[in-house]
This record gives sequence, structure tokens and C-alpha cells, in this order.
Amino acid sequence: MSLYNTLIKIQAMVGVTLLACLTPLLIVFALLAKMLSKVLRCFCESPKSIIGEVAVVTGAAHGLGRAIALELARKGCKIAAVDIDLTGAENTVKQIIETVPAKAYKVDVVNYEEIVKLNEQITKDLGSVTILINNAGLLMHRNPVNPTPNEVQQMINVNLTSHFWTKNVFLPKMKELRKGFVVSIASLAGWIPLPYSTSYTATKAGVYGHMKALRLELAIEKQSNIRVSTVLPTFLQANEEVVSVTEQLNMDRLYPLVSSQAAARRIVEGMLRGEREIVIPDIGALLYRSVSVLPIAWQDYLLLLVSASRFQDFCKLYSK
Ligand SMILES: NC(=O)c1ccc[n+]([C@@H]2O[C@H](COP(=O)([O-])OP(=O)(O)OC[C@H]3O[C@@H](n4cnc5c(N)ncnc54)[C@H](O)[C@@H]3O)[C@@H](O)[C@H]2O)c1
Repeated sequence: MSLYNTLIKIQAMVGVTLLACLTPLLIVFALLAKMLSKVLRCFCESPKSIIGEVAVVTGAAHGLGRAIALELARKGCKIAAVDIDLTGAENTVKQIIETVPAKAYKVDVVNYEEIVKLNEQITKDLGSVTILINNAGLLMHRNPVNPTPNEVQQMINVNLTSHFWTKNVFLPKMKELRKGFVVSIASLAGWIPLPYSTSYTATKAGVYGHMKALRLELAIEKQSNIRVSTVLPTFLQANEEVVSVTEQLNMDRLYPLVSSQAAARRIVEGMLRGEREIVIPDIGALLYRSVSVLPIAWQDYLLLLVSASRFQDFCKLYSK
């Protein structure tokens, strides 16, 4: 048994060493590819105009949702700011209204009927929706280590199920118009799991799979002019509770938190380019893709090596 354990450890160490040796090379290749695509884009692509398009942003009362709504307004879109927090959504609208038409709507994205009515109301107020931003989300349970069944169900409903409802309601018109954008905010946690946030991790992995399948469906139906982007951000300077936990666990020392505004700019830019996956920061994609070629057991050891002590501290925070 102990020989077996030693072999496993050697296996993990060889994996880490190989990864460490390969990473600089991969980074150089990725940077070169990125620079080349940027140069080619300057010559070949004129940025898509979305002036006058109607964008619905869920969870627009706060954080990333508000920042995306403001960024889309800056690009000339009419904005439907949707949230269960009407006052927050109205505050978002107040920051927009002088530049483009915008309206706040109190809607629970978990409720299918409310989304059907929302579509009818937005169409009357602003016009047909051609940009859907699925952003509303729940990030943490009250006690992440031991959430109640109701809390788990609610997180699945808001973070995952609601994307099926908005897709059902808003996509048919985009198909009729043969244009549009569907942007779903997942998380790097959908790729790199967060222990003690299993429901969050599962919902974000679910969003990732949902959007991948949707993209294929649209291609099969020759509707590839409806662009589907999945956004996978690391920790953001947005939800206060998440910011506080990352600071207490010194996670911000691994990588500084990205501001909502910077993330929103990157998301809208990526959406306009039709990027299928928008990873924030970009280096996250490179790290994930390098790690994911390793055998799954090695991936687990590697993640534990980097994060086990931080998640032990995380548990202690909630068992006080
Ligand atoms: N903050 C981060 O570190 C981070 C990292 C990766 C991904 N994300 C994702 O980005 C998105 C936005 O996160 P954020 O940090 O801005 O969170 P936030 O808590 O600041 O904002 C989320 C918004 O969603 C709204 N909302 C919640 N339930 C709703 C419901 N049932 N119906 C309508 N609106 C509802 C809330 O009222 C709130 O305004 C989420 O999907 C989140 O999972 C966040």
C-alpha cells in the first residue's frame, strides 16, 4: 500500500514538473497566436455595430450585470435591466437613461411565466430583443459547508434552469430575425471545481455544457449568425461576500480580483467578435487547457496541492 502511495506521489510530481517546464513554451505560443489574431483582426474585421439593438441583462441591479448593462448602453444598445431587486435595477437605468432608452423590470428569472410577460413588455417598450445576457446568479449559500436542500435547489434554479427559460422565450425571435447574441455568465469554477461550493460548480459546468450544445444546434439549423458566448471569469470585484471571503483566505494574492468594469468591457468586446468562450483573465484558459491534458487523478492532486489548505481555512470560517 505504501509503495502504491509513493508511486502516486512520484506520478503527481512528474506531472507538476512537466507542466512547469511546458507552461512557458505554451504561454509563448498562445501569446504569439493572440498577437497574430489581433493583427489579422485589424486588417480583416470591422467591429459589428449594435447601435439600436435591444439587450436584456438579467441580474442587472448589481455587480457584473450592472457593469455589462452600462457597457452595452455605451455601445448604443437599448437596455432592459432585469432583477428581483427593482431599486437596484432602477439605479442602473438612472446611470444610462440620458444616452439610450433603458427600463428596469422586476422579474424572478426562476419563474417561466414572468419571463414570458417580460418579453411581451420589453417588445412594447423597447422593441424585439436581439441580445440576451444570462447573468443573474447566486454565488454562495449561507453555510457553504452544509447548505439546506432548498438552498441547493434555488441555486440550481437561478444559475442553470433560468437559462433554459430565457432561451425558450427570447431565442425564437432571434431565429426569425436571423441575428442575435446569447451570452451566458458561467465561471472558471465550471472548469476548475471549487470544493465546498459543489452546487455552484455544478451549475456553472451545466451552463458551459448547455451553451456548447446550443451552439451546435444553431449551426445545424444554419443559424450561426446567432452568436453564443460562454463567459468564464475568475473571482471578480463584484459580490461583496465573495470579495470578503477571497480576502480572508488571501486568494487575491494568487491573482488580483478583476473589476466588474474591466470584465464587462472584455465580455462585450468578445461577444461582438463572436468569441465562443471568454475567459477572464485570458491566462485562465491557458492554465486550464494545460492542466486538462493530464490524467484526471493528477489533476486532482495538482488542485489539492495548490488549494487544499485554503479550502480547509474556508471550512473553518463557516464552522465557527
Ligand atoms: N463575483 C465573482 O467573483 C464571480 C466570478 C465568476 C462568475 N460570476 C458570475 O457572474 C454573475 C454575476 O455575479 P456578481 O458577482 O455580479 O453577483 P451579484 O450578487 O453582485 O449580482 C447578482 C444579481 O443577480 C440578481 N438575482 C439573484 N437571483 C435572481 C433571480 N431569481 N431573479 C433575478 N435576479 C436575480 C441579484 O439580485 C443581483 O443583482 C453570476 O452569474 C456569477 O455566478 C461571478
